[in-house]
Amino acid sequence: MPGKDLLSVSDLTAEDIWRLIARARDMKREGPNRLLEAKVLALIFEKPSLRTRVSFDVAMRQLGGHAIYLSPGEVGLGQREPVSDVARVLSRYVDGIVARTFSHDVMESLARHATVPVINGLTDREHPCQALSDFLTIYERKGRLEGLTLAFVGDGNNVARSLLLAASIMGTDFRIASPQGYEVGGELLALGRRFARQSGAQLLLTAEPRRAVHGADVVYTDVWASMGQEAEAEARRLAFADYQLTRDLLAMAAKDALLMHPLPAHHGEEIAPGLLDEGQSVVFDQAENRLHLQKALLVELMGKVGPSP
Ligand code: CP
Ligand code: NVA
Repeated sequence: MPGKDLLSVSDLTAEDIWRLIARARDMKREGPNRLLEAKVLALIFEKPSLRTRVSFDVAMRQLGGHAIYLSPGEVGLGQREPVSDVARVLSRYVDGIVARTFSHDVMESLARHATVPVINGLTDREHPCQALSDFLTIYERKGRLEGLTLAFVGDGNNVARSLLLAASIMGTDFRIASPQGYEVGGELLALGRRFARQSGAQLLLTAEPRRAVHGADVVYTDVWASMGQEAEAEARRLAFADYQLTRDLLAMAAKDALLMHPLPAHHGEEIAPGLLDEGQSVVFDQAENRLHLQKALLVELMGKVGPSP
C-alpha cells in the first residue's frame, strides 16, 4: 500500500483495491490464522458503532491479536488532551489505531502524529472501510466491477463520497441523485473526476432519482441524517421526502440489481419498510464482508510494523 495509513479511498490505487479484495476472499475461505499474532489494535470511537467496532475486534482475534476499545468519554480526543499526544502515546503501546471521529481533520492529525498505522473507521468526510467492503460484495455477486453502474440515492455523505472514489478508481460507473444543497462536491468530486478519466468510469450527478437508478446494477442508499447531524433530522426529512428508495424506484434498475445499504437503516425513511428484507438486498453480506476486507487491510498495514521503540 502506498502509505502507512488508510484515511481515504483515494489513498489507494486500483491495484491496491484488487489485492485487498483477493486477500479478503482468501481469508473468508480459509478462516482464522496467526498473521497478527500478539499485535494490538486500539479502537478510538467518538460516535456509536455496531459493525465497525465488532468487525475490527473479531478481525484481530481471527488474526491472532487483540483489540482495545476506547469509548468517547474515556479518551476525550482533543479535550482531555491534544490529539497529537493521544497519537504519540498510543503509538508506544499498540500496533495500529482505528478511529471514528466527527471531524476528518482530527483523523488526519491522529495519522500525522501516530507512528503506527491509522485506519479511518468513519469521519464526516469518508467511510473507506465501508466502500472497500462493499466493492468486495459487489465483486462476489457480479464477478466484475468494471462496466457496472452503481446508483446512490440520497445524501452526498461520507459513504457516498467513499463509494464515488472507489467507483471512479475501479472503472465502475457511478450515479448519484441528491436534493439541491446535499450533493457531493468540492475537491473530492474533482478527485473522483480525475480518477474516472483514468479508469473510464462515467460519473453522473442528478437531482432525479429515476435518472440515477434507471438500468443500474447496484442501487444504494444511506440515512438522510448521519451521526452528528441529529439536530438537522427534521429539515432533512423534508428535503429528502422524494428520495425514499421504494419498490417502484428499485423496479427501474436492472432485473438482477443488488440493493445495498451500509446499516444502520431508518426503515420507512430512506428505504421503504421491509425492502431490505427482500430478495435483492445484500445488506447482511455487506455487514459480514466488513470483517473479511478489514482483515486483509489489517494484515497489509500492520503485518510489518510494530509500536515505536
Ligand atoms: N456501517 C457501519 O459502519 O456501521 P456501524 O456504524 O454500526 O459501525
Ligand atoms: N452516513 C452514516 C453512515 C453510518 C455507517 C453516518 O455517518 O452516520
